[in-house]
Amino acid sequence: MTELEKLNQIPEDVEKELKGIDDLNQLQQKKALFLGKKGPFAEIMNNMKNLGADAKKEIGMATNKIKQAIEAKFEEKRKAIEDAIIQKKLEQEKIDVTLPGVALPVGGIHPLMQTVMDLEDLYISMGYSVAEGPEIETDEFCFEKLNLPKGHPARDMQDTFYINPELLLRSQTSPVQVRTMLEKKGEPIKIICPGKVYRRDADDATHSHQFMQCEGLVLGPNITLADLKGALLEMARKMFDKDRKIRLRPSFFPFTEPSVEVDVSCGICGGKGCSTCKNSGWIEILGAGMVNDNVLRMSGYDPKKIQGFAFGIGVERIAMLKYKIDDIRNFYINDVRFLNQFKEEK
Ligand code: PHE
Repeated sequence: MTELEKLNQIPEDVEKELKGIDDLNQLQQKKALFLGKKGPFAEIMNNMKNLGADAKKEIGMATNKIKQAIEAKFEEKRKAIEDAIIQKKLEQEKIDVTLPGVALPVGGIHPLMQTVMDLEDLYISMGYSVAEGPEIETDEFCFEKLNLPKGHPARDMQDTFYINPELLLRSQTSPVQVRTMLEKKGEPIKIICPGKVYRRDADDATHSHQFMQCEGLVLGPNITLADLKGALLEMARKMFDKDRKIRLRPSFFPFTEPSVEVDVSCGICGGKGCSTCKNSGWIEILGAGMVNDNVLRMSGYDPKKIQGFAFGIGVERIAMLKYKIDDIRNFYINDVRFLNQFKEEK
């Protein structure tokens, strides 16, 4: 075999050897076999010294050409093997995007918070703004400035948690009335104040030592009891249903005069009488009244110029009636089986 014949034979040999090879190690070995120090090209180069000048040139050029082609061939094969490996991997790791996802447990809005948010929406739509106050209050704001001096017998109505003689856990949201009046310095006011309150009650189905109120206060020239009634009737209709009626009964609160207790017609029996309304057809939901002149004066208002009303809604009361919950403790024990019932389906 001449050198040229040997050279021309190489591509065919390479072709044969590469058939069926599918891994990079084997490919590397074959490459060394053909292009390494002991390979056919090295051998031909070695034999060059025995050739004449013309033959040297001819063989030299042919060697370069074929060697380049073989190198390209190996490179091409390497790419093909790598592509095949990636392809195989992709197939194995294929993600089935049609599989149903794993639902992550998400929380919902607590029914009490939902009730507060509904109250806020409804009163904001009537032009009220939302005010807040601290849960740790002073005796002065929680009682004294609300016409309840120390030793006043009506303090017993609200068995209070005292922190010291001057500080307490607020037993009502009414101190926010006082705070807002002092801030507004005689100007008209239209606020609601939802928040937590505390009383030393023994917990049972209808009592909780912690509960929520939503106080309302409207002060301005010519505000009357009729305005109060309108604000409360609207609330009852929006929170329950449009056929609800309300009833005002005379009552007593030191900070309002006259004072009323407000009942809503029972939604279960439609007013005929059932066990929920204790056969009366009415359910008590809040206390209210016209702000007492003393209260106005103590916080810098002139009762001759500005009057108004205040109300204190029992938020749990509303939520219990709305969602038909028969035990107030359910709001506070955080049993997810109870809470899940109020979760909105997404
Ligand atoms: N703060 C009163 C209570 O907790 C309710 C109330 C508020 C009554 C405002 C009249 C006016 O019992």
